[in-house]
Amino acid sequence: MGKASRDKRDIYYRKAKEEGWRARSAFKLLQIDEEFNIFQGEKRVVDLCAAPGSWSQVLSRKLYLPAKQSPASKDGELPLIVAIDLQPMAPIEGVIQVQGDITNARTAEVVIRHFDGCKADLVVCDGAPDVTGLHDMDEFVQSQLILAGLTIVTHILRQGGKFIAKIFRGKDTSLLYCQLKLFFPVVTFAKPKSSRNSSIEAFAVCENYSPPEGFDPKHLHRLLEMVGSPSGVDDLDCSSGWLEGANKVYIPFLACGDLSGYDSDRSYPLPKVADGTYQSLDPVQPPIAPPYKRALEMKKASSHGIQDLEKPSLDSRLKKHG
Ligand SMILES: C[S@@+](CC[C@H](N)C(=O)[O-])C[C@H]1O[C@@H](n2cnc3c(N)ncnc32)[C@H](O)[C@@H]1O
Repeated sequence: MGKASRDKRDIYYRKAKEEGWRARSAFKLLQIDEEFNIFQGEKRVVDLCAAPGSWSQVLSRKLYLPAKQSPASKDGELPLIVAIDLQPMAPIEGVIQVQGDITNARTAEVVIRHFDGCKADLVVCDGAPDVTGLHDMDEFVQSQLILAGLTIVTHILRQGGKFIAKIFRGKDTSLLYCQLKLFFPVVTFAKPKSSRNSSIEAFAVCENYSPPEGFDPKHLHRLLEMVGSPSGVDDLDCSSGWLEGANKVYIPFLACGDLSGYDSDRSYPLPKVADGTYQSLDPVQPPIAPPYKRALEMKKASSHGIQDLEKPSLDSRLKKHG
């Protein structure tokens, strides 16, 4: 798709470039905030799977920069934002970056160290594996990433804190909902207006972190497995029988963002400048080391190799004709 064509078909992509966001995903977090007011008074925030960094930019603009610019704020009291990703990302003011894997147990320790032993008020996770297009497979891998996020949450989130995580809607959505409900009395699945209807993506907004009494993070996986087992766990919504029949759990999906605002599934005409042409902006900050970079390099190298093989060298041609 050409640059102008994408700008026309994807209004949030175009707006992200105009407003200085590294990715259109920024609007998803902003629209979740419009509905759930997730940034109110937060001092310690973790952005899991943060690259290229548009959610971290939102956190910086909503929390760090206003506090820094306020005459009343002191250095030691500025909000702390820790961003983690497998990929490196370009710096963002007020954001501490950690290059790491959220499925690794040590990642939680690194975060706590940055918070001087204190726990986080808010954890956001926009993690996504490389999508294969096979919905069941993508949903499964995505749910594993959320469970890795939840594992970190059980180590680093304070009582009463919030967790926002990207999910893929599918046949196991009810299971995931029930697993999250074990830890959060309020769980809402939200679909921001900037997330395309055609995409199976949605966001779990989990409020008021309250792990079960006597909960030991070491036993998280055993507890989560019990949710799916016939005997279930002793929880209001998720006791046995939640999967089928009259007791089946129906999960409300909430559309969020200004519903009369831009529709991510519509094309919008491009604004023309004085000479009647349209000027497409470059992306704000392309990823500095995307996972596909090596693949592109290998492809380029191999296509050169093939060309070299097909093209006889000047030496050999001279020999042949000479
Ligand atoms: C959709 S992008 C996140 C976009 C980001 N929220 C933004 O607004 O710019 C998904 C990210 O998940 C990261 N990711 C996937 N698996 C991960 C893992 N196990 N640990 C850390 N990051 C991971 C990828 O590297 C990728 O950067």
